[in-house]
Amino acid sequence: MSITVAIDGPAAAGKGTISKAVAAHFGFAHLDTGLLYRAVGAKTLAGFEAIAAAQSLQAEDLDASNLRSAEVAQAASKVAVIAEVRAALVDFQRAFAQRSGGAVLDGRDIGTVICPEAQVKLFVTASAEVRAERRYLELAAKDGDVTRADVLADVKARDARDMTRAEAPLKPAEDAVLIDTTDLDIAAAIAAAVRQVSSAI
Ligand code: CDP
Repeated sequence: MSITVAIDGPAAAGKGTISKAVAAHFGFAHLDTGLLYRAVGAKTLAGFEAIAAAQSLQAEDLDASNLRSAEVAQAASKVAVIAEVRAALVDFQRAFAQRSGGAVLDGRDIGTVICPEAQVKLFVTASAEVRAERRYLELAAKDGDVTRADVLADVKARDARDMTRAEAPLKPAEDAVLIDTTDLDIAAAIAAAVRQVSSAI
């Protein structure tokens, strides 16, 4: 049986860290679906049209060095509202979810749209301030000019865009288990996710 673990949540909630750790713990493959949208967003910043960029996305586009920047994050959430962009990325995500040996996918709409049949659905969240502080520390390590205020504004703008869009808005699936990491350290958040997967398999 192929096990799919769907992990959704708002910006910088800790989905990536938790997903990687869950995948390593169970020997599952991991797909950071945000990277697909970031790669399309980066292409639009380079002058390409969003839908054509999504439809012609190549594996090497996911290796671009700038994908983690705040500018690309904003561009990603802008292309992510476009139905045709989302549609172009569905088959790849579903095929990944079906791979034998188990898969963890993290994003915004995995439990609701991409893999509504996933055996485990987690919705990872935290207060906007805590999420922005974590992202600030990540970004500041690479770019000394970044400010806390800018990162908080970026996180809030993306959350608002992601939650209010018509197509696959960010929201917990009805049967998702909520993990609020506001007061959890990384080890405790990972342990909570691992417990959920263990009890499902
Ligand atoms: O790492 P972070 O949580 O900040 O963002 P990300 O997961 O890399 O996603 C970047 C942007 O892509 C999000 O703000 C969403 O607009 C979009 N996205 C989406 O619409 N659906 C997904 N499954 C994953 C990301």
